[in-house]
Order: sequence, then C-alpha cells, then structure tokens
Amino acid sequence: MYTLEEIDRIVENASKLQLIHREPANLYEPLDYMMSIGGKRLRPKLCLHSYNLLSDDMGNSIIFPAMALEVFHEYTLIHDDIMDRSDTRRGNPTVYKKWNENIAILSGDVMSLLSYKYLAYAPTEVLPDALKLFTETTMQVCEGQQYDMDFENLPFITKEDYLMMIGLKTAVLLACSCKMGALIGGAPVPVCNALYQFGYKLGIAFQITDDYLDTFGNEQVFGKKIGGDIVNNKKTWLLVDCIRRADGEKKQALEKLMQLGEEDRALKVESVRNLYVELGVKEAAEAEILAWHRKALEELDKTGIAPQQTRNLRQFAEALLRREK
Ligand code: IPE
Ligand code: IPE
Ligand code: MG
Ligand code: MG
Ligand code: MG
Repeated sequence: MYTLEEIDRIVENASKLQLIHREPANLYEPLDYMMSIGGKRLRPKLCLHSYNLLSDDMGNSIIFPAMALEVFHEYTLIHDDIMDRSDTRRGNPTVYKKWNENIAILSGDVMSLLSYKYLAYAPTEVLPDALKLFTETTMQVCEGQQYDMDFENLPFITKEDYLMMIGLKTAVLLACSCKMGALIGGAPVPVCNALYQFGYKLGIAFQITDDYLDTFGNEQVFGKKIGGDIVNNKKTWLLVDCIRRADGEKKQALEKLMQLGEEDRALKVESVRNLYVELGVKEAAEAEILAWHRKALEELDKTGIAPQQTRNLRQFAEALLRREK
C-alpha cells in the first residue's frame, strides 16, 4: 500500500507529464498554465487511493484514467470562471482574463476531449463500464452547472434544490473518481458502489466548504477573490440558509442587499457576511460540513474493507475537513 505522500508524488509527476507542447499555442498554453499553477489534484488522488485498496501496480492503465479526471476538472474550472465572472483562481488570473473568452472556451473544449483520450488507457475489460461512468458523470456536471446558473436568478431555492445542484456540479465527479479507481482495480460491484457513495458525500461536504471559504476564507490562501458568490447572488449553502432564517428587518435588509451589484461589491460582501454571522448561518454551515463528512466515513465502513486498509482515504477526508484552500 502506498502512503499519502507517495500518491501525492505520483500525481504531481503525472501532472508534469501532461504538459502539452502542441500548436497552436493559444489552444494548448491555457492547459499548461492551469496544470502548472497548481490545484489540489483531489480527483486523481482519490482515484489512486481507491485503486490502491485493490492493487499496488501503478501503471499507465490507472495513472492516465486518474489524470482524465483532473483534465476534465480543469476544463470545468476554465468555463466556470467565465460563467461566474471570476478573475482569480489559485492566486493567478483566470484563463479568460489572461487570454480572452474565446480562447478559454476552445481550450476548455480541447481539455474535455483530451480527458477521453486519457480514459482510453483503462484496461480493455473495464473500458466500456469506465466510459459509461465517466460520460454519465461529465453530463451530470454540466447539468449541475446549468442549475447553478439558473438558480442565480431565482429569489430563493430549497435545501433539496441546493443539494441536488451541488450533487451534480461537484459531488458526482468526486464519486466517479473513487468508483473509477475501484473499477479499474477490479473491485466487486458493492465495493465500487460504496466508494461512489463515499466520494459523493465527501463531495457534498467539499462544496459546502467551498461556499464557506468563498465568504469566510483568506483570499491569499484560498486563491480566489472572496465574496464572488455573494456578489453573484449564488445560491450557496450560506445564502439558502440565510434566506430561510431571516425575517422582519433582516429579511428586508437581505432582499435589498441582493439587488446590489459589482459596483457596490465591498458593501454587499461585508453586509451579507455580517448577516451570516448574526443569524447563525456561519456556525450552522460548519456543523453541516461535519455532518456530511461523517456520513461519508460511514460509507467507507460499508465497503467491508478493514479500517486499517481504508486509513489513507480517511486521512484524506480528514485533511479536506480542515482545508483553507
Ligand atoms: C474547485 O475545485 C471547484 C469546486 C468543485 C468547488 P477544487 O477546489 O478541487 O479546485 P483546485 O483544482 O484544487 O484548484
Ligand atoms: C464549481 O463550483 C463547480 C464546477 C467547476 C463544476 P464553483 O463555481 O463554486 O467553483 P469555484 O469556487 O469557482 O472554484
Ligand atoms: Mg460556478
Ligand atoms: Mg466559480
Ligand atoms: Mg465556489
């Protein structure tokens, strides 16, 4: 069994190998740029940890599919930054800011296609299942992203709507990463499914944490401009919970704030953040993240694999719980 550090190193090395020296530069440089400005590379790491429950053979037939998950993720980020009008990511300008929107669209497209080339390295006997799993997941991510954008324009959504939306835009890719590793490692179906559920619940905790950090994080560490979600009236866990809690004067204040735009950014972000604290939304979000983290760990127990063996996945989940970026 590999250690967490060894898996980190394998993924780092594989990420360097992904750099593509092909023409035209404006199509491929954004890929190299995204790969080299970092990122946590959670999805390939999750995939390799799951696979490692079954096999120690870290050859191309698992490394490339693991990188398919990362390259696909990078594509979603490039397009997401156009959709969310975000200027910074990983402490650097976003692709559409550094180049332009057309370049960001097409280099994103080429990355989404490249991910399929990497997936094709999966062992022949599991390739049809891997392809179905991956394609279903990538379609779901697009569905989630569309709900996310549609919800910006609604006055409120329910918690169920929210969970459905983040389940699609974020959790399914973490779930798919865990299941892909197990599938390629040759795990029986119930183990694959339990790992999928583990990744899914971890993904829900992960997106609520992302929402939390977008408001309460440290900009230097988080690498994204704080308050973007508030400015966009993004239906984050925080805003959904706040709308539910606010009444009377606070409700009116929140409604007024939601009408402010980018030109009143500082005032809007500061005031909404204060409401989140005053109404107990901040604390409630912290509790919610912990609850989903626990639910994720329960899924690991259902795999029937000895806790000693799933230690890496548990530690990985633990680290995500304490993340600041
Ligand atoms: C950001 O994902 C988008 C979300 C799903 C919240 P990550 O937080 O995994 O981004 P990087 O790759 O580490 O930058
Ligand atoms: C992004 O959610 C999910 C995907 C990219 C599919 P966010 O819009 O919250 O991600 P960040 O905060 O920009 O990284
Ligand atoms: Mg988004
Ligand atoms: Mg975004
Ligand atoms: Mg976010």
